[in-house]
Amino acid sequence: MAYAYLDNSATTMTDPEAVKAMLPYFTESYGNPSSLHSFGTEAREAVEKARAQVARLVGAKPGEIVFTSGGTESDNLALRGAAGAGKPGANRIVTSNVEHPAVLETCKSLEARGARTDYLRIDRDGFVSPVDAARIVSERTAIVSVMLANNEIGTIQPVQEVAVECRARARNALVHTDAVQAAGKIPVDVERLGVDLLSLASHKFHGPKGVGALFVREGVRLSPAMTGGGHEKGLRSGTENVPGIVGMGKAAEIARENLGEDAARMTRLRDRLIDGLLPVEETFLNGSREKRLPNNANLRFLGIEGESLVLLLDGEGVAASTGSACSSKKLQASHVLLALGIPEWQAHGSLRLTLSRFTTDEEVSRAVDATKGAVSRLRAMSPVWKKIKAGEPVIGVKGGGHEHV
Ligand SMILES: Cc1ncc(COP(=O)(O)O)c(C=O)c1O
Repeated sequence: MAYAYLDNSATTMTDPEAVKAMLPYFTESYGNPSSLHSFGTEAREAVEKARAQVARLVGAKPGEIVFTSGGTESDNLALRGAAGAGKPGANRIVTSNVEHPAVLETCKSLEARGARTDYLRIDRDGFVSPVDAARIVSERTAIVSVMLANNEIGTIQPVQEVAVECRARARNALVHTDAVQAAGKIPVDVERLGVDLLSLASHKFHGPKGVGALFVREGVRLSPAMTGGGHEKGLRSGTENVPGIVGMGKAAEIARENLGEDAARMTRLRDRLIDGLLPVEETFLNGSREKRLPNNANLRFLGIEGESLVLLLDGEGVAASTGSACSSKKLQASHVLLALGIPEWQAHGSLRLTLSRFTTDEEVSRAVDATKGAVSRLRAMSPVWKKIKAGEPVIGVKGGGHEHV
C-alpha cells in the first residue's frame, strides 16, 4: 500500500544524500576527532566541515556551533547553562506557555532549585507579545526563551521583536530561541533574530536522529551540560557522534540550498490540505493561517477524538498525529491548544498533518480523502456529535460548553 507520511514535525526521513555522507564515518574513517593520528585528523576535519555547514544554515560563525544529541539537549544546555552562569541574583527565566516540554520541564526542574519562571501567554492566534515580554524582563532575568515556530500549530513567533524589547530592558539577560521546527522551513538567521542562543535538531530537517546543535553567540558564557574531556569548547564533553554530525551537516547544506523552493512547495501543499479539509462541517484551523510554518496544518473536527482519527488514518495508509510526538502517548489535551483558549473537549478532536520536502501531491490527496471519510465514520458513532447536531450543549465532557473559538 502506498503510504502518505504526514508526520514530519515528529521526524523526517533521513535524506539519502545525508546517509551517503555518513556511511564512511562508520566503516573507514572511524577515528576519534581528539586523536592526534591521521584517523583522528580525518574525523576532526569532517566535524569541522559539518560545523561550518550548520553555521551557514543559521547565519552563524562555525565557532558558535556546539554539537549536542538533539533539540532536547540543546534546550537544556541553553537554559541550564544560562541559569548556571548568570550573575548572582539573576535567577529568573522568561518563557512562553506553549514551549516544547524540553523547555517547560527544564524550567520546572530549575524552579525546584530556586529559579523563578514567568510564563508569557499567547493570544487566540498563538502569538506571544513582545510588549508583555518587556514588561516581565528585568536585570534579575538570566534568560528569555521563546520558540521560533511552534511544533503543534506551526505559529511563527515574533522572536526578533522579543529580543529587541528584552535587550532594551535588561542588558544581561540572554535570549534563546528553540528553532527546532523552524530550521529548513523558514529562513533562520541569528543576526536578524538578535538571539544569543538557538537550538536545532538534525532529524527535523532530514538529518539523522540523535544529533543537534546549539548556537552560542561568541562571548556568551554558559555553564557546561556535561563535564569531562572538554569537547565542544568545554560545553559538551564526550566523544563526538561523528557520523551523526556529518549527516546533520549535509542535511543543513541541502536545506539551505533548497529553502526557497522547498518552502514554496510545502506552502502550496499545506494550503491544499487546509482548503481541502476546512469545508468539512464544524471544522476549524488551530493557530494563525498567515504566520505559520509552510509545512503545518492543524485542524480540529468537533465531535471526535483525535487519537481514534489517527488510528483510523493509519489503517488507510496516512501517518498523522494529534499533536507533538512527545505528548501523544499521554492522552491529555495539548497544552498548546488549551493555551489558545480552545475548550478541552474540542482540543481532543485535533489532527496535525505536517509535510516535508519529499511530500507529494498524491500524499496530500490521499490524506484529504482519508481524513474526510474517517471523520464522518467517527461522527456517525459519536454521542458528542449527536448533541452538536441537535444544538444541545456538550455537557458531561470535560471543559464542556459548545463554543466555537
Ligand atoms: C520545538 C521542539 N523543540 C525540541 C524538540 C526536541 O527535539 P529532540 O527530539 O531532537 O530532542 C522538539 C521535538 O519534537 C521540538 O519540536
